[in-house]
Amino acid sequence: MTTTASRTAELLELERQYCSFGDTVHYLEPPKVFVNCEGSYLFDEDGTPYLDLQMWYSAASFGYKNPRLNAALKNQVDRLPQLACQYLHGEKVEVASRIAQYCEKRFGVKGRVHFNVGGSQAIEDSLKIVRNYTGRNLMFAFTGGYHGRTLGASAITSSYRYRRRYGHFGDRAQFIPYPYCFRCPYGLKRQSCDIYCQDQFARLFESEYYSVWDPKAEACEYGAFYIEAVQGTGGYVIPPREYFQRLRETCDQHKILIVDDEIQMGFYRTGTFWAVENLGITPDLIVVGKALTNGLNPISGLWAREDLITPEMFPPGSTHSTFSANTLGTAVALETLKMLEEEDYGRIVLEKGAYFLDGLRELRNRHPEVIGQVDGIGLALRIEVCREDGFTPDRELTDRIFAEGLKGDLESSGQRYGLVLDVGGYFKNVFTLSPSFTITREETDLAIELLDQLFSRVTAERN
Ligand SMILES: Cc1ncc(COP(=O)(O)O)c(C=O)c1O
Repeated sequence: MTTTASRTAELLELERQYCSFGDTVHYLEPPKVFVNCEGSYLFDEDGTPYLDLQMWYSAASFGYKNPRLNAALKNQVDRLPQLACQYLHGEKVEVASRIAQYCEKRFGVKGRVHFNVGGSQAIEDSLKIVRNYTGRNLMFAFTGGYHGRTLGASAITSSYRYRRRYGHFGDRAQFIPYPYCFRCPYGLKRQSCDIYCQDQFARLFESEYYSVWDPKAEACEYGAFYIEAVQGTGGYVIPPREYFQRLRETCDQHKILIVDDEIQMGFYRTGTFWAVENLGITPDLIVVGKALTNGLNPISGLWAREDLITPEMFPPGSTHSTFSANTLGTAVALETLKMLEEEDYGRIVLEKGAYFLDGLRELRNRHPEVIGQVDGIGLALRIEVCREDGFTPDRELTDRIFAEGLKGDLESSGQRYGLVLDVGGYFKNVFTLSPSFTITREETDLAIELLDQLFSRVTAERN
């Protein structure tokens, strides 16, 4: 019989030989193997629970093995598990209607929904819609923004690391500084800046020689501005509301669409159905993915304002993927949307988020020499790991804390635990926390206790 230890060793050896290293598994050496999950926990082969504070980058927002969503999937497996996406089934139409009707109610704008499989693919579809409608193939996007790693999505994702090996990106976005007030790109303070960064963007349209606007033709070279209402991979950066209200005005004046990427923050991560609702603006397109199916059979998609996606504007066959709107994914998505309608997730997420953030603030008070900032909106929470000055990013220490959490040797009330974290941010020194919406007060207390243990352990070893 293979022991668990030798089975893990066997798997790692096979993986080393036969799996591509091109994904993110080898961000940690050796990679971590999990065998089970439930609620807020992952379990390793020894049965050690790992409290998960990132829930598959917010894809499993409603908890691992959520009974209601799992049941929806199982029912669909027994009823209509397969169907070519050129035929219709009820769940697809119902999911699209619910999303479109929500947008109509919330923004007063009629629109339609188009499905795909993964987030990046839905971003590709949104690029097609923008190009088709505006006739322009260049986009604005934010520094620190992340929209995926297909070629089109990489072109509008800020990190050059994701493009470097793949040739020339003629359609690379023009990247505009995000209003990241803790690390203001202009070195200003929010109390006195009067959103200077937005003025800088608006000034680009003052002269044709600033390269984006032809005042004679009244035409912009850029079709849309891709935004995240809270930056995800960029480090759960929460922007000031006023920035986006002015951005909307500038975009309207110059006929630039706003595409709101809600792939990570949509479906109540920030306490509202769409994160963009916190900013008080109406986008022209919204792109969704991740939590819509709680990480079960994936589907992604986009909502677009009616004139961008009328049957004449975006006719049959404009884009297609074999697995888009698959019956398993849409069945789960429909159940997710019903759940969101029946339960008050706005209240649930805001209450749990406020309690968690209180805990993080106490943690910061206990470890001011390591934690530069904590912040949060709903259950999108952040910890910036810094040097003793409280500002200089400490990436090395962040990596060590992350790896320590995955050792599974923390302890609380005589029980061994691990802690699953995710590292993000411009300098890879931010823990981006997206706990399960099912997290209890006891689990939140445990999270703070385990984080405290981790921070104490690494601080003692800091050189
Ligand atoms: C904001 C945002 N956009 C797009 C993507 C890409 O989605 P996917 O990884 O499903 O392709 C992600 C994934 O993390 C994301 O967070």
